[in-house]
Amino acid sequence: MTELKDYRNLFPSLNQERGGRPPIYFDNACMTLKPQPVIDAILDYYNRYPACGERSTHWFAAQVDKGVEESREAIRQLIGASSIKEIVFTKNTTEAINLVAQSLRWNPEDVVLTTDKEHNSNLCPWQELVERGIVSKHRAIPADEQNRFHLEAFRKVLEEEGGKVRMVSLCHSSNLDGTSIPDEVIREVVRLTRAQNPDAFVFLDAAQSVPHKQVNVQGLGVDFIAFSIHKMCGPTGVGVLYGRKEFLNDESVIQPFIVGGGTVEDTHLFGHPRYFKAPYKFEAGLQNYAGIIGAGAAARFLAEVGPERIAEHERVLNRALTERLQGFPEIKILGPRDPDERSGICTFYLLKPATRFSDSEPDIDEKLDGRANIMIRKGTFCVHSWYHAHEEQFDAFWGGFRPTLFRASFYLYNTLEEVELFASTMSRILEEIADLPTFAGG
Ligand SMILES: Cc1ncc(COP(=O)(O)O)c(C=O)c1O
Repeated sequence: MTELKDYRNLFPSLNQERGGRPPIYFDNACMTLKPQPVIDAILDYYNRYPACGERSTHWFAAQVDKGVEESREAIRQLIGASSIKEIVFTKNTTEAINLVAQSLRWNPEDVVLTTDKEHNSNLCPWQELVERGIVSKHRAIPADEQNRFHLEAFRKVLEEEGGKVRMVSLCHSSNLDGTSIPDEVIREVVRLTRAQNPDAFVFLDAAQSVPHKQVNVQGLGVDFIAFSIHKMCGPTGVGVLYGRKEFLNDESVIQPFIVGGGTVEDTHLFGHPRYFKAPYKFEAGLQNYAGIIGAGAAARFLAEVGPERIAEHERVLNRALTERLQGFPEIKILGPRDPDERSGICTFYLLKPATRFSDSEPDIDEKLDGRANIMIRKGTFCVHSWYHAHEEQFDAFWGGFRPTLFRASFYLYNTLEEVELFASTMSRILEEIADLPTFAGG
């Protein structure tokens, strides 16, 4: 078996230097780097058979069809789906969630539940349904005191809605702080959701889970999951929607909202078109074949590396980083104290009203990048709603202080040496800004 550290050599983007130093890429929650087998698969499509799929039958097209279906099979295996008919290719997670939001046949009294720390992609599509009067309500389940999924709060909201909940769409692993909903809790969510309403669905936003750990959709019993291939060693512009085959072809439950070429078996000038069966009826228009074929290569690559090995490696790195950052009194880490509960994500802020002396000075992320090629992310990570909901809390504790969040996120190719370099560079930056006021608490 190839050792995990040896896979690093397969990533050409790591094999370069700027200013005599290699890149240290800690922005993996946003996008991961691409290994050579994935790049090769994409190039192979463009070099040898750059034709369309699902329409023509010639030499090149047959290879496209084969490549696309092999990708579907690789994805099916990766997530433990029961059939390739349950694997729909989309543009990304966002499109997959919108596809379901717009395609399900809703009742006006339906209620949608999410958590209170969703990525905008698992919030806006549901809010739109409310705004357009398609469903009655969206409610956000409050997290527990360590920002984790709170089963009791969920149970309470379900009860309050008295059987009206039609969709429970949850962030499986959070891009904000790395917390995941444990498998047994998801199974309980599924049980409770169906008990209050047999027509209700459970959807997992798996953008941060499928790339980083073993996810088995049948074991979890959920109805839908969505994830993005660019976060799992694959190309940009491809995502996956998994939906249970039991209802994907039931037009009384779900009907595709983007239709046209590729989705249709037959049409007449008048009357209802006859659509293909899933997954094709959800894949309208000519597809991103290079990307889909690259997605298959990425899924095979991840299966070979082993999702659980990736998860464990990320825990090792996060423990090391957490220990180092906890040594800096002015740094506060978001989410649970135990790094094992934050997968490969470490989001932190400084207990300082400002992280630089003037706006013209580079901020911490820019300093890390400029000095040591360490790439992290700053901002609200598309979870604005969580940030705004906590503004009052920040106000109460720190008199109007709104912290800037920084996020380091790991993947299989990161190393303990990189973590150490990050910590030592941070240490120097903190010394330089030591004269900026610091809050005592946190
Ligand atoms: C938890 C989560 N959900 C959804 C998304 C949206 O993914 P995409 O932009 O690929 O659609 C992201 C991206 O960062 C994410 O982290």
